[in-house]
Amino acid sequence: MPNVIEPSMEDIKSGDKLYKGKWSEKVFNNSFPIVLELGCGKGEYSVGLARMYPEKNFIGVDIKGARMWVGAGQALKEGMNNVVFLRTKVDFITQLFAENEIDEIWLTFSDPQPNKPNKRLTSPYFIDRYKKILKKDGVVHLKTDSDLLFEYTVGEINNQGYESKYITKDVYSELGAFPLEFQEILKFKTHYETLFTQRGSIIKYAQFSIH
Ligand SMILES: C[S@@+](CC[C@H](N)C(=O)[O-])C[C@H]1O[C@@H](n2cnc3c(N)ncnc32)[C@H](O)[C@@H]1O
Repeated sequence: MPNVIEPSMEDIKSGDKLYKGKWSEKVFNNSFPIVLELGCGKGEYSVGLARMYPEKNFIGVDIKGARMWVGAGQALKEGMNNVVFLRTKVDFITQLFAENEIDEIWLTFSDPQPNKPNKRLTSPYFIDRYKKILKKDGVVHLKTDSDLLFEYTVGEINNQGYESKYITKDVYSELGAFPLEFQEILKFKTHYETLFTQRGSIIKYAQFSIH
């Protein structure tokens, strides 16, 4: 699909053919803010946010092509030119984006990785990478069903001295605490959110600044 970018390992190692520092100019042809959804799966947040904000650009990142195929297909069907998908490992994010190139990061129902804390997308291994690409006033959003990932992330926010903006263990019961427009965003349902909610999970949300 024309809206899916899939760099090879060779491109990542050599830096050739990558859009690092050039996403605005070469991919979106404008200078609007760029928002990432990491571990996007089918990309419900990338597509949903792109619909709401034509003056922002969105990039869904995941290693699983079959999942992003759904979001990429939907974006093509709707003729959206402010959302693309990047098939790669989040681990390579600093090879793919330049310093200060990113305005916001969404982590949607990231794998809790019970036995591999370093693989959690809010571990220092990943946050150190986000620090390199995220603007100083940019925030990270985490929406999750997982108590483990949520408690771990809140612990990291406290231990590492990140600035928390919102933290809620039950986002839907506290929706009224958020600005109206943001309530609409928090109500987006991803594929995994739908699955977990059917099993009775309570959805948690944290928004924090890492700089
Ligand atoms: C539980 S799924 C959630 C998908 C989607 N955000 C949703 O809510 O439906 C987690 C996703 O993160 C992706 N993922 C996990 N670790 C990753 C990594 N290091 N690099 C790229 N993708 C990763 C997986 O491939 C998977 O699609």
